Amino acid sequence: MAMINKLTITLLLLISIAFFHCFAFRVEFEEFEPPQQEEQEGPEFRPGGGPSGGGSGKGFEEESTENPFHFAKRSFENVFKSNEGFVKLLPKFTKRSSTLFRGIENYRFSFMEMEPSTFLVPHHWDADSVFLVLQGKGVIAFVTDSTKESFHIRRGDVLRVPSGVTHFLTNTNDTVPLRIAKILVPVNIPGRFQDFFPARSQFHQSYFTGFSKQVLSASFNIPEELLERLISRSQQMGQGIIRRVSPDQIKELAEQATSPSNKHKDSDMSKFWTPFSIFKQDPVYSNDFGHFHEVDPTSFSQLQDLHIAVAWVNMTQGSLFLPQFNSKTTFVTFVENGCAHFEMASPYKFQSKQQQWFGPREEEEEEEEIGGQVQKIVSRVCKGDAFVIPAGHPFTILSQDQNFVGIGFGIFASNNIRTFLAGQENMLNNLDTVATRLSFGVGSKMAEKLFTSQNYSYFAPSNPSRQFPEEKRTPSFQSIFNFAGF
Ligand SMILES: *[C@@H]1O[C@H](CO)[C@@H](O)[C@H](O)[C@H]1NC(C)=O
Ligand SMILES: *[C@@H]1O[C@H](CO)[C@@H](O)[C@H](O)[C@H]1NC(C)=O
Ligand SMILES: *[C@@H]1O[C@H](CO)[C@@H](O)[C@H](O)[C@H]1NC(C)=O
Repeated sequence: MAMINKLTITLLLLISIAFFHCFAFRVEFEEFEPPQQEEQEGPEFRPGGGPSGGGSGKGFEEESTENPFHFAKRSFENVFKSNEGFVKLLPKFTKRSSTLFRGIENYRFSFMEMEPSTFLVPHHWDADSVFLVLQGKGVIAFVTDSTKESFHIRRGDVLRVPSGVTHFLTNTNDTVPLRIAKILVPVNIPGRFQDFFPARSQFHQSYFTGFSKQVLSASFNIPEELLERLISRSQQMGQGIIRRVSPDQIKELAEQATSPSNKHKDSDMSKFWTPFSIFKQDPVYSNDFGHFHEVDPTSFSQLQDLHIAVAWVNMTQGSLFLPQFNSKTTFVTFVENGCAHFEMASPYKFQSKQQQWFGPREEEEEEEEIGGQVQKIVSRVCKGDAFVIPAGHPFTILSQDQNFVGIGFGIFASNNIRTFLAGQENMLNNLDTVATRLSFGVGSKMAEKLFTSQNYSYFAPSNPSRQFPEEKRTPSFQSIFNFAGF
């Protein structure tokens, strides 16, 4: 496949060079194995990397079922993977469903892991991004032509990495991997972005390759032979973008770093990229069964123009994050520890993957839906899985097995209102008794009891003896999307 592509490209190039030689442009083509492109069609599973940990050990053909909101661990594509670490990227949401996810088409979710004592080479993207450090400690440095700032980062730190700002990372710890989740907001092409590297590495060319030697030689004011060594034949070319570093190098890289709390040099960009900890704030909701931390764009200037919120939920085993919905925010969530049973109600209809493949193009079936039916979306989500909770959709999370830790990036998070549907604080409790009676068709005594019996707020214990419906391993379309008998 790659061979054919390469041949075709070479042929086309030869033809175009032959035809257009008289024109004043030229395309130089260096011998180079292009990195795997996220936009390639084909299986989700890419050579060179597997789902770390192996998941169920059951083959990857059972692609994350027909539940369109659940992205199993194996849905991630490996952008980079080596012994030093990996970068994984969730495919464009609209690749899963162009109808359901059109509103978040321009957002991408990614996460990376750097092994202890490693360095991620300088690069920038044509995308804005927000990072959340899931685990470990390190240093991030931002460099422009007028300033350089570096910061210590650790678990729970949130940081804005602005589009086009060159940055590099070091895992300064010698035992613990550094794990970071990111949401990216491309600035050129909706839902697509690229890495730009000043220096060449194993799978990535230097962006200086895009310039002629004459221009480079003149720009740097150095002889062409030197350029060759600097840009295209560097001794590092066999190495990936994440590299081992020595304790001395780490010391040097960490030397100038400031801690997030130490405010801050007064470069214009500081207000954008100064990290802050999500745990510095009191949890928004907290009791014996769970803690919910959130930073929102109204309170943090770093997140303001992107309208992105970051959330971190931690629940003890067998707890229920009570049913709720968000007014405006769609949460792209990621499971960092444990497993949970997730339920969500959606009045939108959607088709299984197969039907999408062979059925009519989605653009053609966009008539307003008149139905009144509610789809019941149930799944078991575990460490490494992602799932999307669209605005307005009531949902609940029940932690299983062990302490559940989930994180979320909230999209369109300015002025979001979260509404709980159960617990001491709940919307239905605020209905007038007469409204409750009229709406639910119950007597006044029942109306009172219905929404006041749960005496916990936000997080509640679930009855451990009660069986919750389990997602089957390979659920049929019908079994997931039973109509909710609400
Ligand atoms: C790495 O992290 C572990 C656990 O937090 C800690 O005990 C150790 O001292 C750290 N090592 C360095 C070099 O910072
Ligand atoms: C969850 O929260 C509890 C209580 O704050 C804390 O002791 C525990 O370490 C947290 N666990 C994780 C994995 O964040
Ligand atoms: C909640 O109500 C139950 C009875 O329904 C009671 O046993 C329990 O102590 C109450 N808990 C709190 C926190 O009020």
